[in-house]
Parts: sequence; structure tokens; C-alpha cells
Amino acid sequence: MAFLADALSRVKPSATIAVSQKKRELEAQGLKVIGLEMGEPDFDTPDNVKEAAIAAIRRGETKYTPVSGIKPLREAIAAKFKRENNLDYDWTQTIVGTGGKHILFNALMATLNPGDEVVIPSPYWVSYPEMVALCGGTPVFAQTTLEDNFKLKAEALEAAITPKTKWLILNSPSNPSGAAYTGDELKVIADVLLKHPQVWVLTDDMYEHLIYGDFQYRTIAEVEPKLIDRTLTMNGVSKAYAMTGWRIGYAAGPIELIKAMDKIQSQQTSGTSSVSQWAAVEALNGPQDFVAKNKAIFQSRRDLVVSMLNQATGINCPTPEGAFYVYPSCAGLIGKKTESGKVIETDEDFVTELLLSEQVAVVHGSAFGLGPNFRISYATSEELLEEACKRIQRFAASLR
Ligand SMILES: Cc1ncc(COP(=O)(O)O)c(C=O)c1O
Repeated sequence: MAFLADALSRVKPSATIAVSQKKRELEAQGLKVIGLEMGEPDFDTPDNVKEAAIAAIRRGETKYTPVSGIKPLREAIAAKFKRENNLDYDWTQTIVGTGGKHILFNALMATLNPGDEVVIPSPYWVSYPEMVALCGGTPVFAQTTLEDNFKLKAEALEAAITPKTKWLILNSPSNPSGAAYTGDELKVIADVLLKHPQVWVLTDDMYEHLIYGDFQYRTIAEVEPKLIDRTLTMNGVSKAYAMTGWRIGYAAGPIELIKAMDKIQSQQTSGTSSVSQWAAVEALNGPQDFVAKNKAIFQSRRDLVVSMLNQATGINCPTPEGAFYVYPSCAGLIGKKTESGKVIETDEDFVTELLLSEQVAVVHGSAFGLGPNFRISYATSEELLEEACKRIQRFAASLR
């Protein structure tokens, strides 16, 4: 009898972490690697948020909290959804979890039975299919294309839906492509969903505040209020407020689903860290200038990276609307040889050889379900980004 659970055999290790591991091996040999593989803002958490956490510790807010979160945070979440997304959620319809990841996991765990299907547009964030599989469901991929800027079209969604479909996971702006849906594009998706009343939407709005130019952020329940009774609107403070280590994610949705997620959480983690919850209250209710300032910095990095990559031989990089990722195609380099004679057959070969020859760590697109592409996280300084893009240009030009 095997000791480890069968469920584990359904789960793949994270490709991002595997690239980081290879990067560390090269660093151990004394090489200086530019790491563009991790999805984490390089800024520090704003001071007002840190101070709120320190004050909470001093006040003795150091005990268990209610499972779904402290009331001031749940009220701040309901107020945020009203203020920024024009969504009317009562505070009792909200839940706080240990990061956005935890919220997603619990929503799936609370709803999936074996055989239930979850539609996931490709390219996708690596955790979605693994979470679905761990919860006993079946991921069903709906392909997008570079020509459509990696956005799901009605026909692809329609083709992926079956009577067994329980959820569509939407992620805008997207990890890994950075693509964000306009209100009109969301309406097209909503119209398909209106024809299939059994399908719920799990919208992962984690990168909501990282959108550039005059792009107007919209979320699906706002665009189509008829979907509100079958939408879980998920968000968090990790990316918007550079709070990845505080582990606070949240969502709002129909009360039965929130209660089911609360039930799971009550036997699993209980309420998340009390101190982090008070910090998140300040992040949501306090001054928002941090968000605008960082948005400008990210936009200038995005423009630099897109322009430099498009100057590289064989690389085609669309300009994404948001997040801090670009997802260029390396189709023009497939079949070519490195100077040492290695043929680049896949995007994984491309990223491996790039790392070995030029010490730039990026993640291959096949890990996100669409290739030949690669993902660059531009959450690092312009200086490093410029150097990394020069090395990518040099590597691309060296292939024959
Ligand atoms: C699309 C997406 N959703 C959710 C998360 C998870 O966020 P958290 O760190 O709050 O768990 C991430 C983190 O990388 C992400 O990229």
C-alpha cells in the first residue's frame, strides 16, 4: 500500500519554483543570474500598512479571529467592492483567507465533486489546474491565441462547456500573459455564461490595480449583474500593496458559498493572521497613492521590456494591458541551433539554454499551457530589465 495519497500523483510541481532552483544552482557556481521568473512586486509594503500592523500588535490584537475574518476587514472589503467595482456585497458575503491562493482552493474544495469540470483559459496561472485536480475535479482548457492577445473568445468558451462544467476561472489581468479584459470583452463571455445556468464564475482579480495607460478595469459581475448569484469575486492585497508575505486574500459571493468556505476553513486554518488582517484594513481603507505611484513605475518597465524584446530576432511580444508579466512568443527561434550545437525544439529548451548561456531566468510557456512562449516578470529594476533584455537579444541573435 502506497503511503502517499493518490491525489498527489495528480499534482505537478511548480515550474516557476523549478526554474528558481536551476537559477540557484548556477549562482552556487558563482554565476550572476538575472531572475525574472518570480511573480512578486519588488517594492516594500507601504509604511502606513506596517504601522497599522505594529499598532495592532501593541493593542493586543494577537488572538484567534473569527474564521471568515475580523468584521472591520470584511466591512473594508465590502466597501472596496462598492467603491472600486460598483458591486453591492454585504460584509457577511465576504471572506478573508490566507492569501488569494487559499480562497481559490477553498472555493474549489467547497464545490467540486469527482467528474466536475472547471474551464480554464490557456495560458493560465500554474496553480489553477493543480488545485482543481487536488479537489477531485477535471480541468478543461479553453485555448486563446497571441493574435487575440490571449483573451478568451466566445467560441472557445462555448466549446469547452459541457453539462459537467461547474466553474469558469477568469483571471484579468492575467498571470502569465498580462492580458486584461475590457467591459465589452467581458460582456461577450457573460453572454455565453447566461446560456449555461449551471456554470459559475471564479474571477481572480488579484492584479486589478496593475493596469496601464487609460485602460478601464472591469470585473464580470459588474458588467453583467445577472451573474452576481453565481460569481465569486476574488482579490487580495498581495500584489496591489506589495504584501505577498502577509498572506491576505479575500472574496465576496453568494452567502451559501461563503458559508461553505467558512466551514472548510474552520477545520483547516481558522481565521488568518490577526496582525495581517489589521494591516489589510489599513491597505484597503488608507491612502491609495502607493498604488498609483507603482503603477507608473510598472508601466514604464513594461514599455521598456516590450520594446526591447520586439527588437530581438525571432521574438514577438504583444503589449499587455496589465499585471507585471509579458508573454512573448519564441516561435521564430524553434528549430534553430545554439553555438554549442543544441537544437531549440521547445520553449523549455529555449529558457534552459538562455539560462545556461546568458544567465537570465524566465519560465517556459508550456508550463502555463500555451507555447512556444516564455513569461517574463518585470517586477524588478529597469537597470536589470535592460541588461536582461540585452542578453536575450544577444542569445536570440546567436542562434543559427
Ligand atoms: C493570478 C494569481 N492569482 C492568485 C495569486 C495568489 O496570490 P496570494 O499570494 O495572495 O496567494 C497569484 C500569485 O502569484 C496569482 O498570480
